[in-house]
Amino acid sequence: MKLSLNALHASMSDPLLDTMNFLNEVTSRYPNAISFAPGRPYDGFFEVADVFRNIRRYLGHLQDHGMPVRAGVYQYGPTAGQIRDLVSASLRDDEGIVVAPESVVVTVGAQEAMVLALRTLFAGPQDVLLVACPCYVGIMGAARLLDIALAPVPERDGQLQPADVEAAIHAERLRGRRPRALYVVPDHANPSGSTMDLDGRYRLLEIAARHELLILEDSPYRLVGSGDRLPALKALDTGQDVVHIGSYSKTVFPGARVGFALADQLVTGVGGVTSLLADEMAKVKSMITVNTPSLSQAVIAGTLLACDGRLSVVSEAAAARYRHAMATTLGELDRRFPAARRDAAGVSWNRPAGGFFLSLRVPFDADNAALQRSAEEFGVLWTPMSYFYPDGAADVTARRSIRLSVSYLEQAQIRAGIGRLARFIEASERNDGE
Ligand SMILES: Cc1ncc(COP(=O)(O)O)c(C=O)c1O
Repeated sequence: MKLSLNALHASMSDPLLDTMNFLNEVTSRYPNAISFAPGRPYDGFFEVADVFRNIRRYLGHLQDHGMPVRAGVYQYGPTAGQIRDLVSASLRDDEGIVVAPESVVVTVGAQEAMVLALRTLFAGPQDVLLVACPCYVGIMGAARLLDIALAPVPERDGQLQPADVEAAIHAERLRGRRPRALYVVPDHANPSGSTMDLDGRYRLLEIAARHELLILEDSPYRLVGSGDRLPALKALDTGQDVVHIGSYSKTVFPGARVGFALADQLVTGVGGVTSLLADEMAKVKSMITVNTPSLSQAVIAGTLLACDGRLSVVSEAAAARYRHAMATTLGELDRRFPAARRDAAGVSWNRPAGGFFLSLRVPFDADNAALQRSAEEFGVLWTPMSYFYPDGAADVTARRSIRLSVSYLEQAQIRAGIGRLARFIEASERNDGE
């Protein structure tokens, strides 16, 4: 039987759905290029023996606590996860986020947590998801799969302005839609690299409470960031207005595919029976992945046990490495484009204190054709920023910006790579006159 793409779900024809694969594969397509494209953790931290050591540690823990070891590995597990107590204890000690284990859903990466949150919360076509823009592709793609409408709220000067969020809420209501939730990455955001300031965090929470808008806080880069961490929105959330989405991909390793959602909101059902939003999300999960693989949970649990839940402490070496990589990248950009020449060259960039990403403005359309030229003729890869906008090509800032990811490279590669990038930018024909 032949199938027509037009007859499949509309999202299959949306280029957005190719983006994740593209980001994961583009580097291997140009093996000789220096790649500032993938948002991957640095490989050098990984020690294969640790996987086995951590699984054993967790199995020992089960045994010590009189819990069934065989079932803990071999059998189907509880849908919401078998390591919820360890996850919630770690978040309490590390982040000051206090939620009961019952409010945790252990997921197949943060990506699954996003899908569960969206499927549970969005009731119909009137519900709209506000997203700080530029925006992580994973949430835009998940919304697209679920036919959930997006309303972008552009960041200004690297910050999501509370007044813009409020304006977007009003605009959506005027269109007859209900702004159900706002998705944000407050710490070292992907793709912009920006971090929300403390005042912005409080103001956002105030707006959320006043407008009955849930905040979906996704923060995988917190513990591998700048070191002077601001409190997570969830740690400041006194009214259960924040659903926190977590990931062990950057702190432990992405191959485990383990993340979680903290959803402590009360849900009132028929006859006044209440449940937690986490329970409702677990229902969705039971129909998607049934449970997060036990072996993956065991590795994460063993890692948490080994550091007494203090992932922030064991992540310090990684965070320091990323801060160093970021500082080198910024230093090289300064050297290649000295302040006096920067305006004339039509380039500018932000200055994150750590994390994986920064954004760079260039004086031409940084599209796929430009990327191909950059890879083939100059040997350097980056990511077009337009991928991170719901309608990327329409926005001039999006079209003329790129994301640089510094996490995966060695110092020498960064220095050589920024040199190649500078040559590519200088050789590209400017078209910023509009
Ligand atoms: C903002 C953001 N959220 C979520 C994820 C994915 O997390 P996970 O690997 O846990 O699915 C990423 C990965 O790059 C990310 O940048």
